[in-house]
Amino acid sequence: MSNKIISHISVIMDGNGRWATQRNMPRAYGHKEGVKTINKIVSVCSLRQISQLSLFAFSSENWNRPEYEVQFLLKLFEDSITKYVDDLHLNNVRIKFIGNLKSFSSKLLKTISQAENLTRDNTGLKLNFAMNYGGQWDIINAVNSMLNDINFVSKNKKISAVDFEKYLSLQGASPDLLIRTAGEQRLSNFMLWQHAYTELYFTDCLWPDFNEKELDVAIEHYQKRTRRFGSLKSSNHIVKKYVK
Ligand code: IPE
Ligand code: IPE
Ligand code: MG
Repeated sequence: MSNKIISHISVIMDGNGRWATQRNMPRAYGHKEGVKTINKIVSVCSLRQISQLSLFAFSSENWNRPEYEVQFLLKLFEDSITKYVDDLHLNNVRIKFIGNLKSFSSKLLKTISQAENLTRDNTGLKLNFAMNYGGQWDIINAVNSMLNDINFVSKNKKISAVDFEKYLSLQGASPDLLIRTAGEQRLSNFMLWQHAYTELYFTDCLWPDFNEKELDVAIEHYQKRTRRFGSLKSSNHIVKKYVK
């Protein structure tokens, strides 16, 4: 097996509701189990020295769910961050939240900023939670931020991909591998810019059942892929020439 570099993994953690329904339990039960899976997968990625893990926790479209489910999820995020933050900090994990966070309650916002501040200088796994996140929102938000940035506007130059990326909610290396659990084969508006050349892996496994073994299978699939980025030879790195 080749040993292709895998430094950034992103995950669309789907299937919590179906997992609970299969057990005649309320969907909330599936969401709670899903949090336990996050904890396990974060530990595995830390141990494996994966540099970055980006998890889709709540999409900008998830507000369309029944109010009680939305409220349950928001409370679960708050409780889970509080419960796990110290352990993550001890494990040198740096936590970042991306998305239109302004819509959250001041209590949740405080929990989020405390977690980010506490772990800011950690040098281990970079753990990104996408919350109230939409890829289209991210791009539009970047355009607006750029137009409001006097330093950029005053230079009055053409926008390059490199300039533009500075205004997105997540800069730096794009995901090498995107995993989506629970069978759907779509992006559901997750990091549209950053996934331009990511290898996609879909599994029927529901998120609460996902584990180290399933992660290994996904990584094995990734190892067998040939990444070309539009060229004719295989490469580990995006040649930035595809966007000027
Ligand atoms: C993913 O599981 C969690 C969130 C979107 C918050 P779902 O809640 O979408 O579970 P299914 O797809 O209904 O099974
Ligand atoms: C995507 O799952 C969002 C998250 C996992 C947070 P959804 O269940 O909301 O996606 P759709 O509705 O099936 O596309
Ligand atoms: Mg779903």
